[in-house]
Amino acid sequence: MSYETILVETRGAVTLITLNRPQALNALNSQVCAELIDAFAAFEADNSQGCAVLTGSGEKAFAAGADIKEMAEKPAADFFLGDFFAEWQSSIVKPTRKPWIAAVNGFALGGGCELAMMADFIIASDTARFGQPEIKLGVAPGMGGSQRLTRAVGKAKAMEMCLTGRMMGAQEAESAGLVARVVPLADLLEDTLKTAAVIAAMPRMAAMVNKEMVNIAFETTLEQSLLTERRLFQILTATQDKAEGMAAFVEKRKPVWTGR
Ligand code: HXC
Repeated sequence: MSYETILVETRGAVTLITLNRPQALNALNSQVCAELIDAFAAFEADNSQGCAVLTGSGEKAFAAGADIKEMAEKPAADFFLGDFFAEWQSSIVKPTRKPWIAAVNGFALGGGCELAMMADFIIASDTARFGQPEIKLGVAPGMGGSQRLTRAVGKAKAMEMCLTGRMMGAQEAESAGLVARVVPLADLLEDTLKTAAVIAAMPRMAAMVNKEMVNIAFETTLEQSLLTERRLFQILTATQDKAEGMAAFVEKRKPVWTGR
């Protein structure tokens, strides 16, 4: 598939995906969604790739939301019958078992904030601004904003942001737990790519299991998630990389991972 709204390149074992509609502040239309689905599937299928980074082109926006111009004339029945926005979860978040990071370089509003929160974690530039302003358009978040934001920052801030549409700056987002780290805009891409390279160089199955484990914390009871964690840990002990990692430690040498 050739892409018109995103750019995809590989840097060693890291796939860099850039939302590329700067004239519309990288607003997410259905073409962006279709292209991202394809790009994430290709990343997931490529054994040479261990981690992905998603960012926005230009210095102003990661993504300013779902494309309002595309949604403006659409009848309600089309949203409902087409299960509008379902694909983000079913075709990007769920099938992507390898880790990926959102490098948020400016506005992450509405669907843009929601897309960033689909990532395994967010690294933000000091210029980043997060918000769920859908209420000002007469609607509400539809790609996970009311749920993931609440889990990330708690009810008080999430409720205030959804009800007023106010934006949260990068420092506030970091102290509230929405983002892992804030870095100067000029360093954002390099810093995030370095972090992604560290993850991509980890034993592959262990990286995938660690991602799954952390995500399970949000899905089920503590009793169940602790059991799942133990079982996944026990399964990892059967891998070649476990044998290699522990042998390398004992022998005081660098491990050589096979990803098996
Ligand atoms: C389509 C968008 C867009 C969007 C910006 N643009 N956001 N186009 N969808 N979400 C376009 C503008 O129309 C304009 O194009 C160009 O990008 C530059 O934007 P400006 O508004 O001129 O820039 P600025 O004045 O700097 O303001 C920046 C901004 C503002 C504060 C980010 O653009 C803004 O408020 N955007 C909308 C944010 C938003 O409401 N997002 C949530 C969308 S709803 P032209 O060609 O006109 O110059 C959503 C989920 C909905 O995400 C779920 C329910 C169904």
